[in-house]
Amino acid sequence: MRFQMSLPFLLLVGLAVFLAACTPSSPATAEGTVEASTPSPTHSVPEVTPTEPLLATTTPTVAASNETPASAVSYSRQVQPIFDTYCISCHGVERIAAGFDLTSYEKVMSGSKNGAMVIPGSASESLLVRLVENGKMPKRGAKPTTEQIQILRDWVNAGAPNN
Ligand code: HEC
Repeated sequence: MRFQMSLPFLLLVGLAVFLAACTPSSPATAEGTVEASTPSPTHSVPEVTPTEPLLATTTPTVAASNETPASAVSYSRQVQPIFDTYCISCHGVERIAAGFDLTSYEKVMSGSKNGAMVIPGSASESLLVRLVENGKMPKRGAKPTTEQIQILRDWVNAGAPNN
């Protein structure tokens, strides 16, 4: 009787141990599989997507900023537009203040009633540059930006070419 009772009891214990060993291991594998598979494609997709447009915008910005100091200042494309915007209302269109007409290259270079306003190669000696630098010109209205004043300086220092 004792022998017969202990065999199924041992089998039950063995089953219980087997189930206990299996139960924790199967959800652990399931969790591991879910964690490993689900987040990794979600992370890798947005990581790649912003990297490509960032690189794409950086490349032309660097190329554009490298071109500006390398190439010479153009009178027709960069300097005359500054005069047209800030100066010619008083120096050429409504009146010609101080006899200084700024509507064309030839007139700018011929100076005012007091003589040359542009000394080619020397921005520091050119009254045109100095009066803009110290804010005396334009006498009224909007002022050129720092970048535009630098364009005037660079153009005069480059020999004030008609380019
Ligand atoms: C609102 C009118 C006005 C504007 C705009 C103006 N000027 Fe004048 N500018 C004058 C007057 C008026 C004089 C004569 C001196 C004075 O009254 O200060 C003068 C004088 C000058 C002189 C000195 C001429 C000399 O013989 O001594 C220079 C150089 C000059 N301007 C450059 C410029 C430049 C460059 C700009 C644009 C960035 C400009 N001006 C915009 C009114 C103006």
